[in-house]
Order: sequence, then C-alpha cells, then structure tokens
Amino acid sequence: MQLYLRMSLTLFVVVLVSVSSVTHGGNVLVLPGEYSHWYNMRNIVDELLNRNHSVTVLVSTASITVNFRQPERFQFVVFNVSLQAHELHGLSEELVNIWMQYPRPSMVRTGLDIMNLLGKVREMHRTVCDAMLRNADLIARLKALKFDVLLYDPMIICSDLLAEVLDLPVVISLRFSLGFAMERMCGQMPAPPSFVPVPPSVMTDHMSFTERLKNVIIYAVYSAAFRMASISLDNYYSQVLECKTFMKLEEQEIKVCTMFAEIHPSGSECKPTTMCETMGKADIWLIRSYWDLEFPRPLMPNFKFVGGLHCKHAKPLPKDLEEFVQSSGDHGIVVFSLGTLVNNLTMDKSNMIASAFARIPQKVVWRYSGKSPETLSPNTKLYDWIPQNDLLGHPKTKAFFSHGGTNGLYEAVYHGVPMVGLPLFADQPDNLNHMRIKGAAVVLDINTMTSKDLLDALNTVIYNTTYKESMMKLSRIHHDRPMKPLDQAVFWIEFVMRNKGAKHLRVQAHQLTWYQYYLLDVMAFLLTIFTLSGFILIKTCCFLYRKCFKRTVPDRRAKNKIKKE
Ligand SMILES: *[C@@H]1O[C@H](CO)[C@@H](O)[C@H](O)[C@H]1NC(C)=O
Ligand SMILES: *[C@@H]1O[C@H](CO)[C@@H](O)[C@H](O)[C@H]1NC(C)=O
Ligand SMILES: *[C@@H]1O[C@H](CO)[C@@H](O)[C@H](O)[C@H]1NC(C)=O
Ligand SMILES: *[C@@H]1O[C@H](CO)[C@@H](O)[C@H](O)[C@H]1NC(C)=O
Repeated sequence: MQLYLRMSLTLFVVVLVSVSSVTHGGNVLVLPGEYSHWYNMRNIVDELLNRNHSVTVLVSTASITVNFRQPERFQFVVFNVSLQAHELHGLSEELVNIWMQYPRPSMVRTGLDIMNLLGKVREMHRTVCDAMLRNADLIARLKALKFDVLLYDPMIICSDLLAEVLDLPVVISLRFSLGFAMERMCGQMPAPPSFVPVPPSVMTDHMSFTERLKNVIIYAVYSAAFRMASISLDNYYSQVLECKTFMKLEEQEIKVCTMFAEIHPSGSECKPTTMCETMGKADIWLIRSYWDLEFPRPLMPNFKFVGGLHCKHAKPLPKDLEEFVQSSGDHGIVVFSLGTLVNNLTMDKSNMIASAFARIPQKVVWRYSGKSPETLSPNTKLYDWIPQNDLLGHPKTKAFFSHGGTNGLYEAVYHGVPMVGLPLFADQPDNLNHMRIKGAAVVLDINTMTSKDLLDALNTVIYNTTYKESMMKLSRIHHDRPMKPLDQAVFWIEFVMRNKGAKHLRVQAHQLTWYQYYLLDVMAFLLTIFTLSGFILIKTCCFLYRKCFKRTVPDRRAKNKIKKE
C-alpha cells in the first residue's frame, strides 16, 4: 500500500490502448465528466468516430465512471493521480447524503455542510489538476498528438487550463450551473432576473413582485458564492499561465514552462488571469437542454442547445424483460429508476415505495441494486441495470417514475412518457419543476411522501390523460427542430475544427469591465453633460432675466408715470 501510494505520487503517464485508426477527419481531445455526464458525452464521441474523426479521451486513474481499462474505438490517455476513485465517489455520496437528510436541518446548516464539502471537492480537483498540468511528460505527449479541439465537461475545473496550455479551441458541454453563475459570469450569457427564474428554483417565468424580489436576491447570493469559490482558483489559474511562479526549478516543471513560453513568447503575455476569463475563452457552449424544457431567455450566439442528443429509437428488449413487459397485458408497465448515483434507499423508504407498487395493476420495472424490500409484490421486478431508453420507448410503458436527471428526463420527453418525479439533488428539482409546470409530471418529496401519495401520483399520471397529452406536446416540440441535437453538437465541434475556433461568435462583452458593461462611464459622462448644460442654461436664463428685468422695469415705471401724468 505504502509503496503503491508512493509510486502513484510520482506522477506517471500510462497510455493504454493505442488503436491507431485511419484518420480522415479531425483530432478531438475529450475531457469527460463523471456519472451521467460521461454517458451523455459518449454519444458525441461515438458520433465523432462514426464520422471518421479521431478521438482521445483523457482521464485520471481516479476516474469513477470512465472504464479506461476496457478497449474502445477511441484511445485513452490515462494519467496517474494520488487519489482513488472511491475517494471521489465518496464525496459525491456525501453530497447526496447532505441533500437527502431527513428531517431537514436548517438552510444555514445545509449551506455550511455543502460549503465544507465543496472545499474538499476543490482540494481533490486541485490534486487532479496538478497531476495533469504539472506533468511534463503528459503535456508533451498531448502536444505531440496535435489535437484540433478540446471538448470538456466543467466538472473537472481546470480543463480550460489544459486548453490554454495546449493552445486549443474549446467546446464546453454543460447542463447549467447554480444560478447560471458560470454562464453569466464566465460566458457572458445575459439572464435578466425580471423574467429568467434562477435555477434551481420552483418559480416560473411569470413572476409576481415578491417572486422577482426573491429572484434578484438569490441571483445575487449565487453570484457572490460563485465569485468567492472562484477567487481561490484565480490564483491557481494565474500561476499555471504565468510561467515564472509555476516554474519550481524541478526539471519536469521547467519543461512544462518551456511549453508555456512557446504560447506566451518571452513571457510578455504572462499576466494574472481569472478562472472566469479562462473559461470564457470557450468557442462554443453546448447546453444539454432545449426549449421543450427551458423557459425562453436571451442567449449568446455561441450557446447551442443540444438537449436530448443521447436519445435514440427504442431497440428490442432482452428476452426475459420483454416477457415480463408483455405479461402486463393492457395495464402496461411503470419504469422506476433513481439514476446511477443512488443505488440503495433506507429499508423504510424502499418498503414504502414497494407497497405503493403492490397496489397498482401495472407491472413495475425497478432499477435497484440495494437490499430487496420486504413488501415487494409479484408485479414488481428489481434489476441491477435496465435498458432505460428501450423501456421508455416500449408501447406498453405508461409512466416513468424518476429522480429527474437530465438524461432520463429527455428520454421520457423523446418517447412521450409522462412522469412521476422524485427529485434528489443537483439539477433534478429544477428539471422536474419545469415538467410539472408544463403539465407532464407530478412531483413528490422523498422526505415527506407516503405510500398513498405515490399511489395517487401514479394513478393520476397513468389515468388522467392531460399528463400524457402534455408530454406528447413536449415530445412534438422536441422532435420538430431543424437539426437533430446530436448532429448539431457534432456540427459545431467540426465547425470549430475547420475554422480553428469560433471566436466570431464571442461577444465583446468579454473585453469590457463591469462599469463599461453597464455603461456607467457613458451614463456618468451624459449625466455630467446634462448637469453642466442645465447649469449653464439656468445661469444664462438668470443672467438674461436679470438683464431684462433691470432694463424693462424702470421703463414700465417710466411709461406708467407718463400715463398717470
Ligand atoms: C502509476 O505509476 C506507477 C509508476 O510507474 C505505475 O507502476 C502504476 O502502475 C501507475 N498506477 C496506475 C494505477 O496505473
Ligand atoms: C469513413 O471512412 C471509411 C473508410 O475509409 C469510409 O468508407 C466511410 O465512408 C467514411 N465515413 C464518413 C462518414 O466519412
Ligand atoms: C447505501 O450503501 C452504502 C454502502 O453500500 C451505505 O454506506 C449507505 O449508508 C447506504 N445508504 C442508505 C440510504 O442505506
Ligand atoms: C387531470 O389533471 C388536470 C391537471 O392537474 C386537472 O385539471 C383535471 O381536473 C384532472 N382530470 C381529472 C378527470 O381528474
């Protein structure tokens, strides 16, 4: 163990599979996120490969979801990091636990817990970043591979730094950040709080005075929190991009710095930067959402909405599953999954859910790897894994009972299956709230729901046809677009490769200071001019008036005198 740790501390590059395929197209470097983020991005990777591009996926040995030991059509570049996947996964589980605590502690307590945890997450990210960026062999190897574009998920914070180091154009894949902080502050996407409800929230785009007030306050809080979180990173970003500080006189790092020096000749451009500034250099933002789900809001030309890019037509089910589904007869089935991160529930919860299932005539396909609940009835079957998309596309599927992760939600929209939502954390409450407002879902609270609530919700969604109709409407909107989302995502990656970036789509707002952005300088100037001219005008009037007054009054008096006489 000791030896292993020491060995992994000396950061080494391991290049595993090296399938050198014929490359007619571009050369794409991919830095994936974890969990569902990677499952989503894989679809882009597969489509890039289908179009004869060459793809390299860069992962650390601590990756939780990316199975880099398995041979793939693309190549992996794996770098050693002194962390273990289970440590990272442990943090995610901790986050889920904080969110799912019941009875709920106070907002402040939860906020502090999350802040504390995010501190740990940042620490781990820093380790991963160092393992990647202070690794001269890795950087040299990546440079030699001559990529055309970097596609990354901001789950790993310093991916944009790697793009700077390798001098590559960037495509980001993102769902949304808390309060749109990243999009607004780094991507310059406007989100006026008067009609754009802050995510995640339970508000719609029709806001009353108090809701708008609340919206403004929450926006401000998220902005401040994001600013505070990024300040500690600004220093790191500056260090990496500013050769001198980064160079620690160890041979490896000097080599890295030589590479930086190539990007920034003679160090003249080495000046302090911020995380937002670096991230804001992205050429294209691929947002994993679309107007079926979103409220209309202003956008920048380099934001592309590609929600549902992973959805496909349903394939036939495995034989045993198909038999189970067919055995449901006319009642059909309900599909239940809480996603990849929540595999077990407390016995109380799973019993409560199972007993609600026992009282519906439908069959239930439940993705669950925890302990089998005692109240499980014969109409419910547990599976470690389910072909979710194929099940949702099955004509017998009546409802989808889900935590509301973006991937599953889009599969439901794609196939037009109404939902019962059990939001747990992250974007899930927001996702499901949108579905509820659009009349396509009933949303429950995992902490307070009873077996009867769940039963009622399932019956409502299955037997009240308005839910199915609303979902079909969303589904029509989802399908009725000029280009399929996957094609669109790949098009923009190809565009960036062909044109060496898409800087023509980046607004100049990136170059402005805050007072220039809000035109405070112009307003101050105009105000000064108005004040000055007003002042001059009044002074002139007074002057003229006095002049006239002095001259005319004696005249009149004189005239009056003459009349009287
Ligand atoms: C990390 O690097 C060491 C030293 O070369 C190597 O022996 C080890 O296999 C690497 N670890 C992993 C998980 O690849
Ligand atoms: C990819 O390359 C293969 C073989 O070179 C060719 O047959 C195929 O048409 C190409 N596909 C695309 C989408 O260009
Ligand atoms: C789920 O399982 C993990 C370990 O397998 C355990 O630590 C955790 O407490 C379980 N969660 C619940 C809610 O039972
Ligand atoms: C179905 O649901 C809608 C929306 O919640 C509701 O307005 C309507 O009354 C319900 N219909 C029946 C028959 O319960």
